[in-house]
Amino acid sequence: MPTLDWIGKQAVVNHDKDVPFRLLKRDTRLSLGDSENLLIKGDNLEALKALMPYYVGKVKCIYIDPPYNTGTENWVYNDAVNSPEIRAWLGKVVGGEDDDLSRHDKWLCMMYPRLKLLWDLLADDGVIFISIDYNEQHHLICMMNEIFKGCFKDSVVIRRGAKNVQAQFETIDSLNNGYESIIVYSKSRDYRFQKLYMELEEEKPGSWNNHWRGTDRPTMRYKLFGITPPEGQWRWGEARSKKAIQNYEKLLSDLKKQGKAVTQENIDAWYLARVEEAGEEFDMLRLSENKKPEHYIQPTNSKLLSNLWTDIKPNGSSQLKQVFGKKVFDTPKSVDLIKRIVKWMTKDDKEAVILDSFAGSGTTGHAVLEVNREDNGKRKFILVEMEDSIAKGITAERLKKVVGGYASDEGEEKGLGGGFQFMRLDTTLFDKDGKLSGPITYLDLARYIFFTEARKDLDEKSVKKPYIGTKGDLDYFLFFTERGKNTFTREHLQKLPKSDGQRVVYADRCLMSDALLRKERITFKQIPYQVKVY
Ligand SMILES: C[S@@+](CC[C@H](N)C(=O)[O-])C[C@H]1O[C@@H](n2cnc3c(N)ncnc32)[C@H](O)[C@@H]1O
Repeated sequence: MPTLDWIGKQAVVNHDKDVPFRLLKRDTRLSLGDSENLLIKGDNLEALKALMPYYVGKVKCIYIDPPYNTGTENWVYNDAVNSPEIRAWLGKVVGGEDDDLSRHDKWLCMMYPRLKLLWDLLADDGVIFISIDYNEQHHLICMMNEIFKGCFKDSVVIRRGAKNVQAQFETIDSLNNGYESIIVYSKSRDYRFQKLYMELEEEKPGSWNNHWRGTDRPTMRYKLFGITPPEGQWRWGEARSKKAIQNYEKLLSDLKKQGKAVTQENIDAWYLARVEEAGEEFDMLRLSENKKPEHYIQPTNSKLLSNLWTDIKPNGSSQLKQVFGKKVFDTPKSVDLIKRIVKWMTKDDKEAVILDSFAGSGTTGHAVLEVNREDNGKRKFILVEMEDSIAKGITAERLKKVVGGYASDEGEEKGLGGGFQFMRLDTTLFDKDGKLSGPITYLDLARYIFFTEARKDLDEKSVKKPYIGTKGDLDYFLFFTERGKNTFTREHLQKLPKSDGQRVVYADRCLMSDALLRKERITFKQIPYQVKVY
């Protein structure tokens, strides 16, 4: 596969491994209720790493809306990558148009380690959606192909807000820029999307909702079943003729023979093939018996959604203004857009985890709360926002308002319920010399060790000191009370639960011979030197 190269790439390819592990600390004053939703204030590079022991491989849907690198944003590159080449051209604030070459290099350097961490967090059946525009879309796709191993799924077209269109007018010199994209990748190559159908609306001249055209009108498509639509509404269950029912049965048996499911798409293909065979004649069937076919299929006033999501209005700004009563944030996305993604990705998993690591005003959290309210789901969101003033003053405030209810121009908006924990990045687990640092609890260290060993999150309920967990036939034990003072002794050995498999014991020191450890099938690992760096 072709790969993209840029200045500084070598320095960031494994940078995610160098990012220190920091603990997360709850800010009770800014949190709401006892929900498991998280709003983390901090740079997402460190926040994603901090989430790893809890959420590795568990996130079902990621949506991110990173800086588009328009040259007019003031995003900061400060990832402490210390290679000579990066030091040579690195300024903390990313340059504008006149600094074009390094602007793209820096953006790629910023995104690469973050996307690697997102890949790790994504579940095997997870999908990532990334909003982007022409400034970096081509670079992003090349970089994603590398990190997401070529699992490109789609590129969805989104309408741009009128104001943005105007703003873009100044930055490109040919056509007015009326769209942006959402790039979609799955974690697994064999991931298959659920088909997404949308309700059809009547075509309005000049409208973006231009779904029905010419022969695609339902009245033409399904005449073969002899169904008369009551005022344009089609129902499969209302076929009224022998011939129509025969056709319908033939359709079912043909699809069965071909091993195809009875889906809108397959019916359409079958129908088109029949029309081609029989020409007009096939369309002329008219029958009158009132008999219903046995099977009820999707109502036909829905259509497989295309990747042109121009039906969604770019109304993020006005929606956010309704919540705050004034403009508070420049580039919020539409709640309807994120709701479509969340509903689509979590239709069969109403407890899924949804992550947005460039959270801005918190549209993703708002959308998850709305979807949960609509279907009684228990989906969880994790939001990360770097700017203190945004995280505290906008993201958290928005969530509080939509959870509890607020007054808008259109009247009282009822609260959606739920809550969130406001988290900050705390001390690092290890200092720069690799030693344990800061005040660390037993569970902090146990979670980290178990994660690095087993790539699983710790089940706190099954932790029974010194036992922390099992992977395959390996049982893991940790002796830790105070830094540097944890010795594994014969007395401890005698009290260790017996095991048929191997046992791995972590402590600062071990007072037993290698021979005895071998006999007891114990592998001793010294803290901190043999704690794996992730
Ligand atoms: C384009 S906005 C996202 C808007 C969001 N989708 C919404 O609907 O409000 C990007 C956000 O990412 C934040 N951001 C940029 N770099 C970040 C980083 N390294 N870590 C966390 N947040 C970051 C910015 O402060 C900004 O609020």
